[in-house]
Amino acid sequence: MKVELITVRNGEERVVEYEYKPREEGERPMALDVLLQAQATELPDLAFRYGCRNRTCGICTIDVNGRPRVGCRARVRDGDRVSAPATLPVVRDMVSRRDGVARQLRGRLPNGLRGNDLEVAAPDDYHALTACIECYACLDKCPMHARNFEDGEERRDASGAYRHGNPFSLLKLQRIRLDPVADPAEKAAALETALALGLDACRDCPGCKCGVGIDLKRKVVKPLVVAAFGDS
Ligand code: SF4
Ligand code: SF4
Ligand code: FES
Repeated sequence: MKVELITVRNGEERVVEYEYKPREEGERPMALDVLLQAQATELPDLAFRYGCRNRTCGICTIDVNGRPRVGCRARVRDGDRVSAPATLPVVRDMVSRRDGVARQLRGRLPNGLRGNDLEVAAPDDYHALTACIECYACLDKCPMHARNFEDGEERRDASGAYRHGNPFSLLKLQRIRLDPVADPAEKAAALETALALGLDACRDCPGCKCGVGIDLKRKVVKPLVVAAFGDS
C-alpha cells in the first residue's frame, strides 16, 4: 500500500511516496502507524508528533487528503495523502506550530484556565465539553481562525497568541461559563474574551465540526452567540 507523505523542510514541500508493509494480511493501518513505520525504516528524520496512541491527547492530528484527522485513529488507504494540518504554520514535515492557539486564553481570565477538580455537580453540557482532546481539528475551515492569516500574514499579539479565535478556544470559554465553581467575574470575562476573539464571525457561519464528535454548534457556539448578541 502506497501513501503520499508531504514533508516540509525550510518551507519547501516535497512529496514522498512511502510503501507501507502490512504487519498482517489485509491490515488497514492508521495514519500514525504509517508514519512510525516510515520513520523506523526509510525516513529516519521524518518529523511528526504523537503521545497516547489512544485518541486521548490530540497531539497526533494530521491532515489525510486535506482534512484534519486524529492520526492514531484515522485509517488510511492506498493512495491517501498525509500532511501537516493546513490550519497552522508548519515547523517541519507533519509538525505544526500550535502555540498561537495554546497561548490565546492566557492572561485573559481572572483565575486562568483551571479545571473543575472538585466534587461539585455540573450541568451535562459542562461534562460534554470536557471530552475535548485539544487536537485542533476544529480549526479546519473556521472563518474566525482564518482571519489570523489574511493577506498571507500571521496575526499574533505580543504574547505570541493568535489575535482571532477558533472553536477550541470558544469551547474552553463556554466551559468556564458552565463551570459551577467559576465566579460571575470569570464567566463575564469568558464571554468578553469570546467577543474579543471575534465571536461575531459565528453569527453568519454554518458551524464547526469537532474531531471527536462534540456538538460545537449547539453546546458551544449557540450559547455564546445568544449570550453576546441575543440571536437565537
Ligand atoms: S461557528 Fe464560529 S468558531 Fe465555528 S467555524 Fe464558524 S466562525 Fe469558527
Ligand atoms: S473541540 Fe473537538 S476538534 Fe476542537 S480541539 Fe477539542 S476535540 Fe479537537
Ligand atoms: S497519539 Fe494521542 S490522540 Fe493520537
